[in-house]
Amino acid sequence: MQITKQNMVMRYALFHMFFLLSLAVAPPSNAATNNTKPGCQSRCGNVDIPYPFGIGPYCSMNVDFNIDCNISINPPKPYLSFVNSNDTYVHYLEVINISKSQIYVKNSELQLARSCYGMPTNNNTVNHSTRLDFFATPYTLSDANQLTVVGCEDLAVVRQFSNLTHIYGGIGCLSFCTDTLSIGTCPSWGCCQTNISKTDFLYVTLFDMQTIGRRDSRYLPCSLASVGMIGDLGNFIFNLSDLDDSTAFLKNNKEFMDRPLVLDWRIDPFSNCNKTSCGKNSVCNNWDFLYGGYQCRCMEGYEGNPYLGCQGYF
Ligand SMILES: *[C@@H]1O[C@H](CO)[C@@H](O)[C@H](O)[C@H]1NC(C)=O
Ligand SMILES: *[C@@H]1O[C@H](CO)[C@@H](O)[C@H](O)[C@H]1NC(C)=O
Repeated sequence: MQITKQNMVMRYALFHMFFLLSLAVAPPSNAATNNTKPGCQSRCGNVDIPYPFGIGPYCSMNVDFNIDCNISINPPKPYLSFVNSNDTYVHYLEVINISKSQIYVKNSELQLARSCYGMPTNNNTVNHSTRLDFFATPYTLSDANQLTVVGCEDLAVVRQFSNLTHIYGGIGCLSFCTDTLSIGTCPSWGCCQTNISKTDFLYVTLFDMQTIGRRDSRYLPCSLASVGMIGDLGNFIFNLSDLDDSTAFLKNNKEFMDRPLVLDWRIDPFSNCNKTSCGKNSVCNNWDFLYGGYQCRCMEGYEGNPYLGCQGYF
């Protein structure tokens, strides 16, 4: 067939029609995929709350994923609260963000231990221990956390164990000072840092070693320890004289207390994948065999929230 001008115009028009039609039919690339149950709020303040997390008991998968959105603060802030295996010990954590397998939280009192003048048996000491207990919850401390201890000749003893697997571990972190310096730096003089491996129970106790060392205990008597994300106190510098008074230390060094804690999450530590675990077009993966539980993810070529169901995309 001879290609005439008219023919070409025709083809051109047809091509355009096709092009426009395909645009109209293709779903917008940023099609909103459901990340919450129908009728549920997807955000609290600036934080996205993806299912299985949810604001209120109807919107979350179960009570362990229940988010309390405090709207009396501006912007509103989400909180997570749950009870551990003993049903006695409640964690109340501010939520910073939630990803597919981790949640960043914050509770500065819970993450902090402080002690002045002494050993834990001494009546003068207050709050010399930190106890983070995630037994029988969907959460564990991830391996992205670190312990930072500031003090002069002070020892933090870290004990961690898992109730389910009976794996125990312990480390110590000892911070030293020198009389010739007035500035403490991390991880160097006056500061000790150590990484914490994944665990569902962490117990940190502070001991003052000055009484058995060369100095008397009146020399910069306070020590503090905090658990939080690796790297956020990487360049921490402080005046050693702040160790005279732990309240003054915290006032002058707010970043020591205000740290995110990184938790791993999964569904139900006491069950494995079964047929009904995950939503449409998703697959189930058993979690770490040491800790139990499972997570869902969308099948190849699908996207969305794997707990609610995934959709195919083009
Ligand atoms: C969550 O918050 C932490 C701490 O601020 C940050 O380092 C991390 O990149 C954030 N993650 C996401 C997915 O936004
Ligand atoms: C000890 O910790 C509790 C809560 O964990 C807190 O209310 C109290 O103010 C702390 N005391 C001191 C002296 O830091």
